[in-house]
Amino acid sequence: MTETVFVLNGPNLNLLGTREPEIYGSRTLGDIEALVREKADEVGLLVEFRQSNHEGDLVDWLHEAHRKGAKAVLLNAAAYTHTSIALLDAIKAIAVPVIEVHLSDPGKREPFRHLSYVAMGAVDTVQGMGPQGYVVALEKAAAL
Ligand code: DQA
Repeated sequence: MTETVFVLNGPNLNLLGTREPEIYGSRTLGDIEALVREKADEVGLLVEFRQSNHEGDLVDWLHEAHRKGAKAVLLNAAAYTHTSIALLDAIKAIAVPVIEVHLSDPGKREPFRHLSYVAMGAVDTVQGMGPQGYVVALEKAAAL
């Protein structure tokens, strides 16, 4: 049976391409999805790729990944990374391993981005590599 990896993206990532390109680059979330799907085909994984601006959607999708027996979740929780105990609790509540992803390196940015609730529950973090970080994270998920 082919395994599925959920790739979940949080608030404002729908605006990639035009959003602060000096930080996030010029590629859209659709471009990133295409990169991820290419790598998924190569390593024989199915991908469920989603974005929401709403914290509860991300919580619900983490539960769904668990219910459906996903192999892993790649989670770019965007700003909720730094605020959401609900996401941390969801990550800890599910059996599916979560890999944290960020385009930028939040550790090298404003101090309020240095705390990651997601990291407290995630098995690994890939950050500061731009869109390629999603591909690296998918390779890590494939190896789990
Ligand atoms: C981000 C980093 C977060 O600090 C920020 O709030 C984002 C994007 C990244 O991918 O670099 O929205 O998760």
